Amino acid sequence: MTVRIAPSLLASDFARLADAVRLAEEGGADLVHVDVMDGHFVPNLTIGAPVVAAVRKATRLPLDVHLMIEKPEATLSQYLGAGADWVSVHVEATAHLQRCLELIRSGGARAGAAINPATPTRALEAAWPDLDYVVVMSVNPGWGGQPFLAPTFGKVRQLRDELRAAGSPASIEVDGGVESGNAGELVAAGAEILVAGTAIYGQSDVKAAIEKLRQATRGTRV
Ligand code: DX5
Ligand code: ZN
Repeated sequence: MTVRIAPSLLASDFARLADAVRLAEEGGADLVHVDVMDGHFVPNLTIGAPVVAAVRKATRLPLDVHLMIEKPEATLSQYLGAGADWVSVHVEATAHLQRCLELIRSGGARAGAAINPATPTRALEAAWPDLDYVVVMSVNPGWGGQPFLAPTFGKVRQLRDELRAAGSPASIEVDGGVESGNAGELVAAGAEILVAGTAIYGQSDVKAAIEKLRQATRGTRV
């Protein structure tokens, strides 16, 4: 299983996003994680489609856009137009999950559904065939730098088993408080994409931080 490392720009200097994505590229990252927050679904407000388009021009790495916004069906085409390669919506934020996933796929991107820590994996059941990935939140979304919630390990294992039983090839992404101390166990549980903000951009050497995370995931087998 290939593990993908996705540095989260939320922990970078927003005045220097081009530098942040360059450091991610030079450090061997696989994806760039972009946190879009609307001030409603989560209290924080970050960036929108114009900034995603600007980041798109600054890197060749795929952009993994995490939409923490209410009613994503209303605006998600803007993010596809901005060049997002992977787009996830929160199941708690829409009454039309399948429509969202269809829109994302028809826009040529990989379609993901994100679930908050309090949301059970069964909330995704009806959408298994429409999903390319699931984002398991390991903190309550809104801010970077929060402590990892330990029940995530069991949730990832359960989700992996459910996906296998359903014959779904969807991959599991974990987002929030990921660092070298939990990365190995997450991969062993079934995570294939690790998002990390503070553990990468909060460090003085971004390349070394990415390498440390990758190292922590090696040698683990499901
Ligand atoms: C949390 C965001 C995360 C955040 C992770 O709401 O979705 O992507 O940037 O940051 P760390 O790794 O610092 O918890
Ligand atoms: Zn995120």
